[in-house]
Amino acid sequence: MASRKKSKKPVVKKAKAKKASAKKVVAKKKPATKKIVAKKKVAPKKVAKAPAKKPAVKRAVAKGNGLLKPSTKPWGMDGKALDGVKILDFTHVQSGPTCTQLLAYMGADCIKVERPGVGDITRTQLRDVKGADSLYFTMLNANKRSITIDSKNPKGMEILERLVKICDVLVENFAPGALDRMGLTWERVHQLNPRIIMASVKGFGPGPYEECKVYENIAQCAGGSASTTGFREGPPLVTGAQIGDSGTGLHLALGIVSALYQRNRTGRGQRVLCAMQDGVLNLARVKLRDQQRLKHGPLTEYSQYGEGIPFGQAVPRAGNDSGGGQPAWLLKCKGWETDPDAYIYFITQAPVWAEICDLIGKPEWKTDPDFATPPARLPRLKFIFGVIEEWTMTKTKFEVMDICNQHDIPVGPILSMKEIAEEQSLRATGTVVEVDHPTRGKYLTVGNPIKLSDSPCEVKRSPLLGEHTEEILTKVLGYSDKEVVEIKTSGAITPPEKARVEAA
Ligand code: COA
Repeated sequence: MASRKKSKKPVVKKAKAKKASAKKVVAKKKPATKKIVAKKKVAPKKVAKAPAKKPAVKRAVAKGNGLLKPSTKPWGMDGKALDGVKILDFTHVQSGPTCTQLLAYMGADCIKVERPGVGDITRTQLRDVKGADSLYFTMLNANKRSITIDSKNPKGMEILERLVKICDVLVENFAPGALDRMGLTWERVHQLNPRIIMASVKGFGPGPYEECKVYENIAQCAGGSASTTGFREGPPLVTGAQIGDSGTGLHLALGIVSALYQRNRTGRGQRVLCAMQDGVLNLARVKLRDQQRLKHGPLTEYSQYGEGIPFGQAVPRAGNDSGGGQPAWLLKCKGWETDPDAYIYFITQAPVWAEICDLIGKPEWKTDPDFATPPARLPRLKFIFGVIEEWTMTKTKFEVMDICNQHDIPVGPILSMKEIAEEQSLRATGTVVEVDHPTRGKYLTVGNPIKLSDSPCEVKRSPLLGEHTEEILTKVLGYSDKEVVEIKTSGAITPPEKARVEAA
């Protein structure tokens, strides 16, 4: 116990030091007020005249008005956007880790808590290299530190509570109720640290499904994406982009940063909740737009309209139709017979219709009343795209891209993951990064897709399970070496004996 007190001291000292510096600020301010009062007494006329000469706003800017002076350091040399923010990362699988990896890319100190001996389940899922952390894990947990803690061990909970006390944000995406069962209810967390922000991903928000466990595709189905994806004549389709998991993680990151900003004013933390169903719906909002348009007639930009097929009660699947007001379709390019990705997405944007007509050898369409205007083209889209495709099939997707962009015609090649992995411009911007890992070797990951001009991002490999346990216990939480030995024997940071035997 004596050594416990010892280890706590630095934390207490720090807190005292903070209070002291706060007092200093107040103390500094007091004389300033006195000075003004004194000035008023000595030269009341001068003081009274001053505001009339200088408009209030200008005076505020001149004095700084509490605002920081712009840094004079070179861009990118004044730290990172989230420097000083400590995250208790209690996330697993994909949605939560996406969020915390982004915050870590922005400079937050992300402490990932994992179950001893087991860790995040994705460490061993879809393994490609025997005995090494999977790409699933390594690509979602860069720039983090890993500590193993058994939250169901009393000593483990004591360590967790100590983390809660010093962290700015707790992020979790356990099944509903799991955190409460551990004893970390919002009330308890807020009581331990009123400044902490507690951010959660759940499958559903409050309502009939709130207790359900949810994975990616369930969210895509419940959020309106699957019913509106695919071809009309086929079943609902899920997309490859992980809009339920990674999409919700992104939403959560914005919620956290906003809560941190609000805390600057209120001094207190708050709960942030992102339901995966809500996140998917937010991304599928154009389809809710179309659902309401259906009441007023057919959706004329859907190729179904041109094909004379009546609309039902709900928004149909629209294949590769454009989701916006400019008709578009996916067209074959040279080599499509053998290359499954030899396609280009072609948008017949109205302002460049004349250029499209010239390119595909149909200059007469520029004046033909059946083709000259967007409304005239709507019922003929299938035919029009068939003619455009005859042209695109004579060129590779990259040739179509080059030619069309010279005329400002918006098109996009279908890029395979192989092509993306090899794309040098994505490497140059740090969007695709090669990272070295002690057990799996070199691998590619996705760096920070959000580029900040004054907050550079260096991608660091994901941590090994429990790699930073001792470092966090001693350097972050202030436990003494003797206490660390006690913790080790308590089973709080090591797997239970049974699990160890099974693993061996
Ligand atoms: N020490 C001890 N126990 C731990 C622990 C630790 N460090 N970390 C987790 N656990 C326990 C939890 O307390 C829970 O135990 P309990 O159910 O006995 O109370 C248990 O591990 C499992 O947690 P859970 O979240 O239920 O995992 P799961 O594998 O059964 O379910 C999900 C996975 C993703 C379906 C579920 O977590 C979920 O629905 N999350 C919310 C939505 C979400 O994020 N989904 C997308 C994931 S990409």
